Amino acid sequence: MISSPPLSATDRAIFRRELRQKRRALSPSQQKIAAQRLARHLAALPALQQARRIALYWPVDGEIDARALAHQSNFSRHDFYLPVLQAFPANTLRFARWPQAQRQQRNRFGIPEPRGRRALPAQKMDAILLPLTGFDAQGNRLGMGGGFYDRTLAFKRRCGHKSAGKPLLIGVAHACQQVPSLPAADWDVGLPLVVTDRKIFRK
Ligand SMILES: Nc1ncnc2c1ncn2[C@@H]1O[C@H](COP(=O)(O)OP(=O)(O)OP(=O)(O)O)[C@@H](O)[C@H]1O
Ligand SMILES: [Mg+2]
Repeated sequence: MISSPPLSATDRAIFRRELRQKRRALSPSQQKIAAQRLARHLAALPALQQARRIALYWPVDGEIDARALAHQSNFSRHDFYLPVLQAFPANTLRFARWPQAQRQQRNRFGIPEPRGRRALPAQKMDAILLPLTGFDAQGNRLGMGGGFYDRTLAFKRRCGHKSAGKPLLIGVAHACQQVPSLPAADWDVGLPLVVTDRKIFRK
């Protein structure tokens, strides 16, 4: 199979700017409805039901809010985690329990993180929900450009898109963040599943 060349840094920056504007333009009521639909789609996934430790994220910049999953009736026994930025290894993530953690503290990007709890490596999660800036139907993703999830999940690249191994990676986004094609760079971690307010994409 002939694959397309990866996107240049300039193309990525252009895509990011446009896609971020789109999601920020959604009204509070559009965001609320999208979050409710997303939670229903996620809660219906058998692979997520079977997970015990699930990493969510704190939504910023118009990202779709997946936190309602924690309030779905069939997810009352799951343990939910949020990402915590790590200094070592630089610009990677670990995951700390939420909402049981007593304190939240903003990181250098102003995003709340649970504090006072041991943060676990990605390998200890059963499923990780990744916020997407953009995605295509093949499970290629564009994040905010920091490479945080790519660095943290680099161990998954060896297994390829179809990897059944832990953790299950699920990209989440508003339907309007889909683009026709997003050729991946060597370091990009692919997604076997992308879930939006409208649809579930399986690689
Ligand atoms: N495994 C890695 N080791 C070192 N640097 C990496 C790794 N993965 C990505 N990077 C670096 O991170 C930078 C940003 O990558 P990219 O544009 O793919 O970000 P992104 O996928 O949008 O961000 P994120 O992963 O935080 O959602 C790139 O310059 C890349 O070199
Ligand atoms: Mg990337």
